[in-house]
Amino acid sequence: MLEKYNIYKDKSFNLSMAKEETKEKEKGKDVGKEAEAGLTDIPGIGPGIAAKLEAAGIYDLMGLAVLSPASLAEMAGLGEAAARKSIQAARGMMKLGFISGDEFAKKREDVSHITTGSTNLNNLLGGKGIETKAITEAYGAFGSGKTQLGLTLAVRVQLPKEQGGANGKAVFIDTEGTFRPERIRQISEGIGANPEKVLKNILVARAFNSDHQILLLDKISEMIKDGEPIKLVIIDSLTAHFRAEFAGRGQLADRQQKLNRYLHNLMRLAEQHNLAVYVTNQVMANPAMMFGDPTTAIGGNIVAHASTYRLYLRRGKQGSRVAKMIDSPNLPENECQFYVTVKGVVDEDTEE
Ligand code: GTP
Ligand code: MG
Repeated sequence: MLEKYNIYKDKSFNLSMAKEETKEKEKGKDVGKEAEAGLTDIPGIGPGIAAKLEAAGIYDLMGLAVLSPASLAEMAGLGEAAARKSIQAARGMMKLGFISGDEFAKKREDVSHITTGSTNLNNLLGGKGIETKAITEAYGAFGSGKTQLGLTLAVRVQLPKEQGGANGKAVFIDTEGTFRPERIRQISEGIGANPEKVLKNILVARAFNSDHQILLLDKISEMIKDGEPIKLVIIDSLTAHFRAEFAGRGQLADRQQKLNRYLHNLMRLAEQHNLAVYVTNQVMANPAMMFGDPTTAIGGNIVAHASTYRLYLRRGKQGSRVAKMIDSPNLPENECQFYVTVKGVVDEDTEE
């Protein structure tokens, strides 16, 4: 088994190749030009009006496109005719409409997967692990394995495709100070990879507050444009800052709006650059629930809807972990067992 990783270990796999590939693609495709257009690209909408719209919760062309002329006129202080024109422009730029099933299938063709290290967990996720162009969320109590899964993925994404990776780098946005290089080294050694090389391919940023966390997404886009072959973005934790900063009762709507926008941007990043997004989320006790596991994920419906795959993690018997698929477009609600060991996430605990 170990020999399998040998090339990777001493010669390193050639990330510079992946780098070139990314550059080529960016150049060739003119990636998502209309998707990147913002409110101020619409004729008649300057920074002043854009700011008013943002204050009202309209951040992008989609938000604008679905408004009625009357409500836009009121929000932005425009005449109704001008408002109608802006909405039409937004709809035009977005190419709203249908694509054929085969076009849709083609769009999904380049989706790739990153192994979690556990076959059980991979199967729960549809067979090959977490998916690019999707957000996978893991929520659960402290110690349930959310961060450990993130660290494992940060290592595994670097493996060649034949070995369950995506031949790319990972970005780790750390909001809680839980990133541990030692763990990355251990997990790398566990799969026969060169720990120092693996560490080099993980770009870590500590996000100090929610605004900083949001800004870091732009930085990721820049790095990708510069040719960094980033295939995985980890946000550990997605919600902690938002939760701490918007603690008051009256702030819930603001928090949800900000979180919603952030998730929207995350999804766009995943789709534009064909990368996987893994986010962790805390739980809170739900006193209203009398039976079963009385825990609910933070962020409510906003996070629930934005996540393509939702895993609920908890501690199981004899040091095991249990993952439950909560919400997915195409997979059944199932459960599986895995372990967190020195080698990261695995099927069976072979440690002493
Ligand atoms: P919070 O961030 O506190 O909400 O929890 P989390 O879900 O992120 O927990 P995390 O992934 O950090 O899991 C921590 C647990 O993983 C520890 O309590 C240990 O049980 C286990 N763990 C971490 N490192 C090792 C290791 O090297 N060997 C073994 N056997 N277990 C480990
Ligand atoms: Mg954690």
